[in-house]
Amino acid sequence: MKILVVGGGGREHAIIKKIKENPTVEKIYALPGNGGIAEDAECVAIGAKEIDKIVDFAVSNQIDYAVVAPDDPLVLGAVDKLNEAGIACFGPRANAAIIEGSKIFSKNLMKKYGIPTAKYEVFTTMDEALEYLKDAPIPTVIKADGLALGKGVVIAMTRDEAYDAVRSMMADKVFGESGSRIVIEEFLSGPEVSVLSFTDGKTVVPMISSMDHKRALDGDKGLNTGGMGTIAPNPYYTDEIAEICMRDIFLPTINAMNAEGRTFKGCLYFGLMITKDGPKVIEYNCRFGDPETQVVLPLLDGDLLSIMQACTNGTLAETAVSFKDKSACCVIMASDGYPGKYAGGFEITREADLDAEVYIAGAKIVDGKLVNAGGRVLGVVAIGDTLKEAIDASYANVKKVHFENAFYRKDIGKRAMEVFNEK
Ligand code: AMP
Ligand code: GLY
Repeated sequence: MKILVVGGGGREHAIIKKIKENPTVEKIYALPGNGGIAEDAECVAIGAKEIDKIVDFAVSNQIDYAVVAPDDPLVLGAVDKLNEAGIACFGPRANAAIIEGSKIFSKNLMKKYGIPTAKYEVFTTMDEALEYLKDAPIPTVIKADGLALGKGVVIAMTRDEAYDAVRSMMADKVFGESGSRIVIEEFLSGPEVSVLSFTDGKTVVPMISSMDHKRALDGDKGLNTGGMGTIAPNPYYTDEIAEICMRDIFLPTINAMNAEGRTFKGCLYFGLMITKDGPKVIEYNCRFGDPETQVVLPLLDGDLLSIMQACTNGTLAETAVSFKDKSACCVIMASDGYPGKYAGGFEITREADLDAEVYIAGAKIVDGKLVNAGGRVLGVVAIGDTLKEAIDASYANVKKVHFENAFYRKDIGKRAMEVFNEK
C-alpha cells in the first residue's frame, strides 16, 4: 500500500514509524514531513494547509490511504476533498472537525447534550465581554473561538488580566479572526488527563491515557507551549474515572455528533480535568495530540494502520485494540528561547548506545547534517515497566542526544508520580 501522511512534527513521525510496522506498506510520503521524518518516509515539500496540492499529489501518486494529522487541514476540509477525489482517509470531515475548530460549537454541544464541562458565556462584542467581567468570579478563563496554534487560552488570575486578554483578542486581534468571538468560562482545578480515542462514529475505543506538560519551565511555570513532554498511562485516570468518562463523556459526545449530523471518524482527543465534582471536558481536539501521540503509539500493541482503516470503514467494533502493560515518557528537547525567539542550524547528534525512540519535530537536513529548525526539536521516548523506570530511562537517553542550545524540562512525570504519594 502507498500511504500519505499530512503533517511534519513529532506526532507525524510517531504515526509514520508505527504505520511502517504493517507489512503491506510499501511506501510512505510525508507532506511536508521534516529532516528527521526523511529517515522513515519520503518528504514532499507541500504544506499541510495546501489542500489542493495535497489532493493532486494523492491522485497522481495513486495513494491508497491518507492520514491527515494536524488540526488546520482537518478544519479546512482536507478529508472531504481527498474523499471526493476517491482517496480513503483517516480523520474527520470538516463538519465534525469543528469540534476543535470552534470552541463555541463545542461548548454549546456539551451544554445541549449534558456533557460535563466548565460553565461559560459566549461573547461577540468586546463591550459585553468587559461588562460581564466586572462581576465575574476570578480567576477566569478566556478562550478565542477559533484555532490559535494552541495559544488562544488565557487563564486570568486577576480582573485586570481578564480585561487585557479580552482586549487583546477582540480589539488588537492577536489571534486574528479566531478571537472575534470568545468564550469566558469558569476556572476549574484538578489534575489534567488526555485521552485520545479511536472512533468510527459508532464505537469509541479510548487509547491509553496520558498527561501533557504545556508550560515551558519546570514546576509548570513560564509560557504555554505546544507541549514539553508527556507520560502514559496517567495515574490519575483510574478505572473508576475511566468508567465515568465512557458513560458521561465519550459515548455522549459520539452520539451528540451523530445527532447533529456530524458523525466523527478518526481520532477524537478528550482533554479532561479531574475536578472534585468528577471529570470535566476542558477541550476536544479532532486529531492525535502532540506530544501525547509520542507516548501512546509506542504502547499500542498491534497494527495502527488496520485500526485506522477500521475507523474509516465503520468496523472498529470488530477490531482488537490493546495496549502494553507498560509506561512511557517523552521528554521534548527544544531550542533555547522557545516559545519565543530561538536560534537554529545546530547539528543534532545521537550517541551510538542511545536506547530510546527519538521522534523529530523541528529539524532539517543541511549539507547532509540534521540541524534544529524549530522550537520543539525532538522528543526522546523510553518505555519502562513502571512510570518511574520510563521517566528515568528517558532522561538517561536525553543525555545522549546533543545539539547546541538544547533546552528541556527536568520534571516531566513529576506531577504524575505524586499520585503515588497522595494515595
Ligand atoms: P486548551 O488550549 O483548551 O487545552 O487550554 C490550555 C490549558 O489551559 C489547558 O490544558 C488547561 O491547563 C487550561 N485550561 C483551559 N480551560 C480551563 C479551565 N476552564 N479551568 C482551568 N484551566 C483551564
Ligand atoms: N498536546 C495538546 C495538543 O495536541 O493540543
